[in-house]
Amino acid sequence: SVLEMEVEQIKKGSYDHFMQKEIHEQPHSLTTTMRGRLKDGGILLGGLKEHLRTIRRSRRVVFIGCGTSYNAALAARPFVEELTGIPVTMEVASDLLDRQGPIYREDTAVFVSQSGETADTLLALDYALENGALCVGVTNTVGSTLSRRTHCGVHINAGCEIGVASTKAYTSQIVAMAMMALAIGSDQISTQARRDAIISGLSSLPRNVSEVLKLDVDMKELASSLVDSESLLVFGRGYNYATALEGALKVKEVALMHSEGMLAGEMKHGPLALVDENLPIIVIATRDACFSKQQSVIQQLLSRKGRLIVMCSKGDASAVCPNGSCRVIEVPEVADCLQPVINIIPLQLLAYHLTVLRGFDVDQPRNLAKSVTTQ
Ligand code: G6P
Repeated sequence: SVLEMEVEQIKKGSYDHFMQKEIHEQPHSLTTTMRGRLKDGGILLGGLKEHLRTIRRSRRVVFIGCGTSYNAALAARPFVEELTGIPVTMEVASDLLDRQGPIYREDTAVFVSQSGETADTLLALDYALENGALCVGVTNTVGSTLSRRTHCGVHINAGCEIGVASTKAYTSQIVAMAMMALAIGSDQISTQARRDAIISGLSSLPRNVSEVLKLDVDMKELASSLVDSESLLVFGRGYNYATALEGALKVKEVALMHSEGMLAGEMKHGPLALVDENLPIIVIATRDACFSKQQSVIQQLLSRKGRLIVMCSKGDASAVCPNGSCRVIEVPEVADCLQPVINIIPLQLLAYHLTVLRGFDVDQPRNLAKSVTTQ
């Protein structure tokens, strides 16, 4: 109705679409995710505190989710392993169910879901409960089935997300899991300095997110140069393997353009055959322990005349692309394990602008639903 349309417009404020509003809201949503939880240099997560000892004793952490929530868990995997020392395995909820994969009493199963109502994730939860695992929920929805049926958990408090393509929930999920990893690992003296550095990185994260959002105009221009492409590859590794998958997922789900996120370490085992002067390839090469490996990936792609767009840390343009033949996206550098929160934002903006330029529906992509409550 006309009234409903007017209410919609009021909720969008000065933005044209919910996805756009939610992308630009991230400095605020991340602040609310952390509010009251960074206490005196430590981490306070009320919903987890009674269970930390049990989690520390578990033999494995299993992350379970679908879509963007799975990708957020994948982004969390390296720092959960690092800060807790517990092995982490990843499960797409439907695949765990298809395989009836082993889940044990000694496992901590962490379910990640924005809505807390995704059918596959809830069925996987039932399965893990039956198998006796400690079940932890990470959700944006207070009172959701996920938050009621898990033993404990963390609400990400990102605020209501309306756009079907998840944006602000993704970054808040990563930050919530970073706090979770810090809390689980807080009994380890050897990693104290590392934890302090990450906590200080968390405090300055909203400011750095505001900074990276200034790339909006550049991403619109990049989108206009890619608007007629048939396909887009995104290469990442380490902390930013998830960024590659999630960036590609945004592009395919809203801009309806074929896109694949790929592990850069696997490039020479197949994807390299696709490289030519037409196929656009985004390479994520911000500063971390994998930087020099990404520099050599870029060299290999350039020597095959690849059409490259390189995301790097501020000031690194000539370090990643000495001959100036790639397009460069420079982003603020933050603590390496939090860099995925920054790096996804230009890709969210790119997907958004590509969608508008290609004339597709941003907030209601073809064939997709915000919450998939059927199997
Ligand atoms: C649907 C949505 C995705 C979302 C996925 C998982 O496919 O379109 O945007 O990432 O479900 O949703 P959840 O609510 O469990 O995070």
